[in-house]
Amino acid sequence: MEIQMWREILAPYDLAVQELVLKFSSLVRESREAGKYSYIERVDGRRKELSSILDKAKRKGVPIEQVTEKIYDIAGVRLICEFVEDISKVVDIIRSRPDMEVVSEKDYITDEKPSGYRSYHMIIRYEVTTIYGSKKVYAEIQIRTMAMNFWSTIEHSLQYKYSGNVPDDISEKLQMAAKSVYNLDNEMSLIRDDIMMAQEFSYGKARI
Ligand code: GTP
Ligand code: MG
Repeated sequence: MEIQMWREILAPYDLAVQELVLKFSSLVRESREAGKYSYIERVDGRRKELSSILDKAKRKGVPIEQVTEKIYDIAGVRLICEFVEDISKVVDIIRSRPDMEVVSEKDYITDEKPSGYRSYHMIIRYEVTTIYGSKKVYAEIQIRTMAMNFWSTIEHSLQYKYSGNVPDDISEKLQMAAKSVYNLDNEMSLIRDDIMMAQEFSYGKARI
């Protein structure tokens, strides 16, 4: 397909990522300015590169004309939380928003992947309006703790380095590290109340 066609197909996804990042970042800012603990610590977003979209379509046997209907993570947003408990709060916030229609959810926190990967995934439908008109696009939201994010970033780099064939000894070390991440998240939970209060105190010197 020609470049202009892809530009038109991908424009809504670029806008969706920008809008979603802005909306979630606003929640963080509003909470902090109001002197309240923010369940979201940090927001990241990216639009999948065309080459990665084409690779994934090939891998999954999705015809090019169907990529926007069958590939759900062309627009991707990542919400990083401090504590495991914050994740369900963020999930509730997303479920209750009128501008985000939840299509599906995957809880890899309760059901960890064999690799050791943990994260909460939501696929949403989100409407954007570009010069080409209005369109509802799919977007994937990944919600995880800072510790889970550390692990998955490292694991992802290793998958990339070894083209998906990570040597057994390294996989084992990653699984051990995943256990440490799980324990770290649990230990941090024990001091969550104290930390929440400390942060409300420091942000609480209200800014108008
Ligand atoms: P893809 O994995 O995207 O092909 O689709 P899927 O239908 O299998 O969805 P899944 O929920 O398994 O994964 C969606 C996304 O979660 C991936 O694109 C990654 O960003 C992330 N993810 C899933 N599993 C892992 C994992 O084992 N390690 C890391 N680092 N990320 C993962
Ligand atoms: Mg997968």
